[in-house]
Amino acid sequence: MRIGVLGAASIAWRRVLPAMAACPDIDVVAVAARDMGRARRFADRFGCAAVAGYQPLLERADIDAVYVPLPAALHHAWAARALRAGKHVLVEKPMAGSAEEARELVTLATRAGLVLRENFMFLHHPRHDAVESLLRSGRIGELRSLHAALCIPPLPAEDIRYVPELGGGALLDAGVYPLRTAMRFLGRGLRVAGATLRTRAADGLDLSGQVLLAADSGVQASLEFGFEHAYAARYALWGSRARLTTEHAFSPAADQRPALLLEEQGGTERIDLPAADQYLRCVADFASAVRTEGASDGPDEACRRADAVTTLELADRIRACAVRVEVAG
Ligand SMILES: NC(=O)c1ccc[n+]([C@@H]2O[C@H](COP(=O)([O-])OP(=O)(O)OC[C@H]3O[C@@H](n4cnc5c(N)ncnc54)[C@H](OP(=O)(O)O)[C@@H]3O)[C@@H](O)[C@H]2O)c1
Repeated sequence: MRIGVLGAASIAWRRVLPAMAACPDIDVVAVAARDMGRARRFADRFGCAAVAGYQPLLERADIDAVYVPLPAALHHAWAARALRAGKHVLVEKPMAGSAEEARELVTLATRAGLVLRENFMFLHHPRHDAVESLLRSGRIGELRSLHAALCIPPLPAEDIRYVPELGGGALLDAGVYPLRTAMRFLGRGLRVAGATLRTRAADGLDLSGQVLLAADSGVQASLEFGFEHAYAARYALWGSRARLTTEHAFSPAADQRPALLLEEQGGTERIDLPAADQYLRCVADFASAVRTEGASDGPDEACRRADAVTTLELADRIRACAVRVEVAG
């Protein structure tokens, strides 16, 4: 798969392009940036072409697919342009700024028979399958609740996440991880029971928040996210017999061995799992879908697209119902 990159973004530099470079099925052909100097820095490291501006990259005939690591508010516009140019698309999370925008992208991709994926890399780590197996085996008992959090300390003031016009805010950036965790274990039929957002007094940008969800099964979920806490990236499944917790759940290093902690009445068991490179697995899986004839019409892709839309439907509902508390910031 020959891929082009729209934006010399930090996540592309740190995680995604190294993974693509390590994947034998992917050829990184070009990186486009608004500033040619930024594009050249990437081109030098990854041995590809540097392109000035995003549109010229989409016009290249030597590219099958496009990776879009732009600020959230630009995902819809550039993913749509890429799909209209006949390119498969791997777009950063969240797929768009709202469910309506995500549905439009899904319609475009479906009509064109192109693969459209959201780059939620943590979902490609096999630890979550191990958690699911324990859940199904009955070790936790009857599942009662799920708790998930992604909180990070404050970012540099100029970060894109602090710019409302670029789709900044903690819910779309960090909150989508616990949301997606809840969907991973409880399915798509989640109702938003309540939410709070701590918002910046100057412009209403959400700095952190909490959400309560209820699944049709009766299982409840509580989620926390934000840019104003000590770091935590964890989730727990709490059942009638035990509670299972895993830390560093969203961005583990490729050589990090994840642990599951099972707390039962009689004590705590630690289960160490093998390390896995979720970044490589994610991009390799995308390349495989692009190479597979008719994959874009299959049930797997339809399921992934529906998950991306549901995530944003939940985010839309949270924004609509949240109690906002203004804070300085
Ligand atoms: N999947 C993950 O694990 C993960 C982790 C972190 C971030 N992300 C996602 O990746 C995306 C980028 O995040 P990042 O941390 O890499 O951000 P970043 O370093 O600030 O990169 C943003 C990119 O957007 C481009 N851009 C275009 N218009 C812009 C504008 N008006 N203002 C600022 N930048 C503009 C810039 O490209 P030029 O090079 O053209 O200037 C820049 O390279 C976000 O959607 C974020 O949610 C995903």
